[in-house]
Amino acid sequence: MRLSLTAAYGGRYSRRLQHWWTALIVTSVACFAQRPQNPLAGDPDAIAGGGAAFRPYCTPCHGIRGEGGRGPDLTHGVYSAGDKDSDLFNVIAHGVPGTDMAGFASELSQQDIWRIVAFIRSLARHDVPAMPGNRAAGEKLFWGKGGCGACHAVNGKGGRLGPPLSRIGRERSLAFLRESVLTPNSDVKPQYATVTAVKRDGTKMVGIGSLDNFTVQITDAAGNDYSFERSDLASSTRELKSLMPDDYGRKLTAAEIDDLLAYLVSLRGAEAAR
Ligand code: HEC
Ligand code: HEC
Repeated sequence: MRLSLTAAYGGRYSRRLQHWWTALIVTSVACFAQRPQNPLAGDPDAIAGGGAAFRPYCTPCHGIRGEGGRGPDLTHGVYSAGDKDSDLFNVIAHGVPGTDMAGFASELSQQDIWRIVAFIRSLARHDVPAMPGNRAAGEKLFWGKGGCGACHAVNGKGGRLGPPLSRIGRERSLAFLRESVLTPNSDVKPQYATVTAVKRDGTKMVGIGSLDNFTVQITDAAGNDYSFERSDLASSTRELKSLMPDDYGRKLTAAEIDDLLAYLVSLRGAEAAR
């Protein structure tokens, strides 16, 4: 009787102990992933390892030295995702839905992600020059003389031919935005390819869209959507070139371009309130 009681107690005890261990392991794993501080912060080997992992995975959008491109400049030492190491960890692991930033949790180990966070921290420079240009003047140009609003929407207002720009200041580097305005053809995403359809009566339609063996889809400058059977058309073509005017560098002064860029950089979406 006494023996079996001990056995029962012992069994319960060890089971409880097991729960504790499981709980401890689970929390320490969770802590490792979510702790606000990088466990590898400042470690020179981790920084070198992070740089090596950054090269193949991240440079296509963030540049060789993290200076940005299609993705934001990571050298400013301030991040829209937040100030903590865990904020950087989370954005690298899980990405930002609806943007070009995919999550890397399935390709990179947690350890590798912390190494990359250590690398990104090592890039921070604190001599970031102030932006030239006047944001309010840029906003006026955007909707007025520049005619940008005819094709681009900001916070639901504006055209549909070009991509919405409500949070473009968060998504791209300044250099990439400048290039987008001055040389639109330098980097055109496939969904903004130019599609041209000529009807049998000679009517020509140009817009963004897509085309397969049988049909053509076009959104025109006024934002109307059209779909045609290719067999009903005289011709239909698709070119990876931008419908955005490529003469802003001549139509606008250098100061006006700076104003426009100051406006674009300020467009950071709802998160701007943080
Ligand atoms: C296909 C392009 C692309 C690739 C590849 C890419 N990123 Fe990004 N990244 C972006 C974009 C775009 C954003 C901005 C997302 C947003 O709108 O908040 C971003 C945001 C980030 C941010 C947040 C910056 C901030 O200010 O909050 C970090 C950190 C980051 N990326 C790190 C990485 C790392 C590390 C890799 C490689 C493992 C990587 N990215 C690969 C495009 C990319
Ligand atoms: C006739 C339509 C049209 C006008 C006008 C126009 N754009 Fe565009 N814009 C586009 C299209 C289409 C694209 C996508 C293809 C490309 O990258 O060039 C684009 C792309 C962009 C991009 C890159 C967006 C990204 O996701 O990287 C920026 C920034 C931009 N435009 C800003 C401007 C500004 C600023 C003006 C006014 C000075 C302007 N656009 C005027 C059609 C237009």
